[in-house]
Amino acid sequence: MPSTQQNGVAPAQPRACSRRAILKTGGAAALISFGAGCDIFRPGVDAARAPWDQAGESLGDPRLDALAYAILAPNPHNRQPWRIELRGESDIVIRADPDRLLPATDPLNRQIVVGFGCFLELLRQAAAEKGFIAEIVPFPDGEPQPLLDDRPIAHVRFAKAPDVERDPLFGLVLNRRTNRAPFLDRPVDADVLNRLDSALRPGDGDFEWANDPANVATVKDICLRGWRIESFAHKQHMESVNLTRIGRREVEATPDGIALYGRDIEAFRLVGFLTREEMAKIGSRAHQEMVAFYERAIQSAVAFGWISTESNTRKDQLNAGAGWVRLHLAATAAGISMHPLSQALQEFPEMSEPYADIHEFVGRGPGACVQGLYRFGYVDAPPPAAPRWPLQTRMTEA
Ligand SMILES: Cc1cc2nc3c(=O)[nH]c(=O)nc-3n(C[C@H](O)[C@H](O)[C@H](O)COP(=O)(O)O)c2cc1C
Repeated sequence: MPSTQQNGVAPAQPRACSRRAILKTGGAAALISFGAGCDIFRPGVDAARAPWDQAGESLGDPRLDALAYAILAPNPHNRQPWRIELRGESDIVIRADPDRLLPATDPLNRQIVVGFGCFLELLRQAAAEKGFIAEIVPFPDGEPQPLLDDRPIAHVRFAKAPDVERDPLFGLVLNRRTNRAPFLDRPVDADVLNRLDSALRPGDGDFEWANDPANVATVKDICLRGWRIESFAHKQHMESVNLTRIGRREVEATPDGIALYGRDIEAFRLVGFLTREEMAKIGSRAHQEMVAFYERAIQSAVAFGWISTESNTRKDQLNAGAGWVRLHLAATAAGISMHPLSQALQEFPEMSEPYADIHEFVGRGPGACVQGLYRFGYVDAPPPAAPRWPLQTRMTEA
């Protein structure tokens, strides 16, 4: 259990899908990214990345200008479940799209809410950048429990405030990437991890980390067990398979979920080696290689970090999401990659053992919740930006 800085674990201070696989067929090897935007071949899914270029363009309404950044938030399985309604001249009502939840891997909608926390934090930062305070009222009609419903996640009011403090992390928003590649065999030093910690504000959840071999080995083992459970559990595996977009045409037509694209993906798709049907078969070559590559990613971890909260209210989840994206932006600034490994945190029954183990490891006591678990490390080159739906597709009428 982590406790001291000596063993490479920072104490808590007040104030973690997609997969890649090496598929080998007939001697040919190809790197396949099971995950949005994680591909070395740059296969021309530029249309699916257009929202990254559009952020920063003036859309004629400061709320839309800020929302163009908010939709770039990290979010589970890249579901982009945002339902956004502009109300009057200055308000936004934000709801969760019930068709974009993850009932198998996120049965309590906790991760979806964490993703909304990331979204709201980017919205706040982008508003400030333009001289507006975004006053965020979370769950104005009460916290939806045990599952999300049609009540708003947040009500946001924009108020002009030319002197509002700009957030130094905002400049990193367009460079942030979820990186699923195996990391280099290069340590992540304590001072870097402490710098990440200082990016969180009071209330953002507590960030702790481990970079010593013993603790890293313990967390790796938990992550590996969690991954194997998720990838062999029928319902959970099928949720991912059904959200997998294979090849450029699918990725551009449906720029969300788990995006597989690249020259070799197209070839494997054409010969029928890589299809959703093949992926669905537990034990098929495609499934085996998918499992193996994510395992390699986990094995390459040299440091882990996690955000936990004292309790697990919907508000805690939103706060942890704000901390999550701040952490990710700070990691981007520090030149290190951050990869959430959420499997062991998932609340479906088959996951109960790794779930209990990671909570015991973190040692926050009853009621506390690990909201995010990440591996940190270095890579030679960051992946390209992940696909996004254009902002206008997320807008709804009252
Ligand atoms: C709550 C949450 C859980 C996530 N869990 C995982 C995960 O277990 N594995 C993974 O590869 N990515 C995970 N992600 C990252 C998303 O897949 C990623 O944000 C999304 O695909 C968009 O890509 P981007 O972050 O590069 O913009 C998670 C993100 C959030 C917010």
